[in-house]
Amino acid sequence: MIEFQHVFKSYGRGRNILADINFRVEPGEFIFVSGPSGAGKSTLLKLIGGLEPPSRGSVHVNGHRIDRMPARARPYLRRAVGVILQDMHLLYDRSAIDNVMLPLAVIGLDRRQARNRARAAMEKVGLAGKEDLNPVEISGGEQQRLAIARAIVNRPTILIADEPTANLDQETGRRILDVFRDFNRVGVTTLIASHDKPLMTSYASRTLRIEDGRFFDLRGVA
Ligand SMILES: Nc1ncnc2c1ncn2[C@@H]1O[C@H](COP(=O)(O)OP(=O)(O)OP(=O)(O)O)[C@@H](O)[C@H]1O
Ligand SMILES: [Mg+2]
Repeated sequence: MIEFQHVFKSYGRGRNILADINFRVEPGEFIFVSGPSGAGKSTLLKLIGGLEPPSRGSVHVNGHRIDRMPARARPYLRRAVGVILQDMHLLYDRSAIDNVMLPLAVIGLDRRQARNRARAAMEKVGLAGKEDLNPVEISGGEQQRLAIARAIVNRPTILIADEPTANLDQETGRRILDVFRDFNRVGVTTLIASHDKPLMTSYASRTLRIEDGRFFDLRGVA
């Protein structure tokens, strides 16, 4: 489902953030991506989402070698992988539901169908009734769930989320992770970068850890 082979990543002429990384993720796994600030967690997730190319090595997602994917195949990747970045990139010049509809506009779905799918996605994350609010009018936890709704509206097979519970209280954080768990239970492969190890203990069964340029593939939450 996801396979890294001898992956190296540096930005420009900088040092290697990731060096000779090899791992494989099977369908349906729930993975915790851990490590200190600046270690390379976001970088790892961006490589999976095709948002950054590796400097060397190959990245396969669903059998496609994405680092060699031609531009015209990009929409495929966007549909296959739902991405929730550290900065959620919500658009504040439009309503909540219009934010969720964006990925569907990109693939050219007609507006009525897109609206129905977006409404269903918002309902799944517990945001029914908030469709017409502006993102500034909803809470931080609700904005996180809105970003999740936008990531799942294309029915991706893989969900990656970068610190989706940062700046949220414990209870709200759990509710967010419960949303991911619900998708994971119906088969969506899930990778979450977080600094909150105790919180992740109830959800993940494997940890990919980056620390001091070294990579660890561990059982459970570590
Ligand atoms: N676009 C970029 N250009 C240059 N350097 C970058 C870029 N993005 C990240 N880096 C550098 O790569 C390293 C890893 O960054 P990354 O964002 O992957 O860390 P992280 O583990 O996600 O940290 P945090 O826990 O703070 O989010 C950092 O030293 C960072 O400064
Ligand atoms: Mg990060």
